[in-house]
Amino acid sequence: MATTSLSSFSLNHARSPAIVWISSAALFFLIYLSAMNAPPRTFPSFSSSPTSNTSTAPLIPSSNSDLAVEERRLQLYDKMSRDLDEKGAVFLKGGETSQSLSLSDIFELRDGVVVPVLKAANPPVRANVLYLSPEFSKPISEAVKEVFLPYFDGAIWFQNATMYHFSLFHASHHLTPVVATENEIEAEVEAVERVTKSICPLKIKLDRVVLTSTGVLLGCWQVVSGTDPAEIRGKLREALPRAPAKQLYDLVLLHTSFARILGHPKLSEEESKKPFDQVQFFHELVARANTKLRGFEATVTELWFVEEYDVLALALNGKMKTRRFHLGCNGDLNH
Ligand SMILES: *[C@@H]1O[C@H](CO)[C@@H](O)[C@H](O)[C@H]1NC(C)=O
Ligand SMILES: *[C@@H]1O[C@H](CO)[C@@H](O)[C@H](O)[C@H]1NC(C)=O
Repeated sequence: MATTSLSSFSLNHARSPAIVWISSAALFFLIYLSAMNAPPRTFPSFSSSPTSNTSTAPLIPSSNSDLAVEERRLQLYDKMSRDLDEKGAVFLKGGETSQSLSLSDIFELRDGVVVPVLKAANPPVRANVLYLSPEFSKPISEAVKEVFLPYFDGAIWFQNATMYHFSLFHASHHLTPVVATENEIEAEVEAVERVTKSICPLKIKLDRVVLTSTGVLLGCWQVVSGTDPAEIRGKLREALPRAPAKQLYDLVLLHTSFARILGHPKLSEEESKKPFDQVQFFHELVARANTKLRGFEATVTELWFVEEYDVLALALNGKMKTRRFHLGCNGDLNH
């Protein structure tokens, strides 16, 4: 399913390409959602059923469940790491332009520079994301560029370093739009703000860099201390009862997008003489990125409520409205 919709990476085809692209991205994670049927074991229940009662859910997971969450994240990242081997470099299999690029329709080349083609999101997507400050994102972005730019100049899109974020939970997304009035949105914002007061800043560590079969270069993070993303998602679920039941991401996932590869690598004359194993080549680049970045530690102190007026505005420098909240770490103020 995901692979069929992915086959249209080409400058020439104009059939609702943005939808194809996001759907692929979303499907990618939905697949993990359903594939991760790992038994919850001691994983605390962050259920959001109407009868659920916050006081029955553990506010801070016990050390026992911390371990279970950490292990579940590792399993998820292992699975994501295998994606490229299992499916191959699907992002290169689309139509190719004369520059031997296979660009998604939401990007185009202008004077050799990849620029996004922005499209209005209707209704706007309402996303809750953790924000990674430039203090941490800039050095990561530089390392990623060092590794990938020499091979993919003009065929790669880098995430804006001042907009590195971890997608947590959507009040409305493209698969299940939840239309809301301005007042309803303000009420959501207030509910999210209350949640942020009880969340503690996260100390996190980059577990690994992963390249997916759809060409997305991701940072996958582990939590050292602070409120676990699984618990934050549980709190947001309770605070936003109208939010889509089906969310895009696994409860435990903590990831940032670094870049999206859009075309074939440019090889030196020397390199292009040797037999070329595409997947192996990508593995080597990812390994180089891991050498630079694995174990990188960062602190996350802000959660943003973002209205994305353009499709993928956070990823593509599109139009959006952001509300920034400091993680207060004040205990549970709902009680
Ligand atoms: C929530 O839990 C508290 C304490 O266990 C209980 O007193 C209260 O009635 C519960 N509320 C609901 C809606 O179940
Ligand atoms: C990156 O994001 C910042 C903040 O939103 C913005 O000012 C800047 O123009 C963006 N950079 C590019 C290349 O779009």
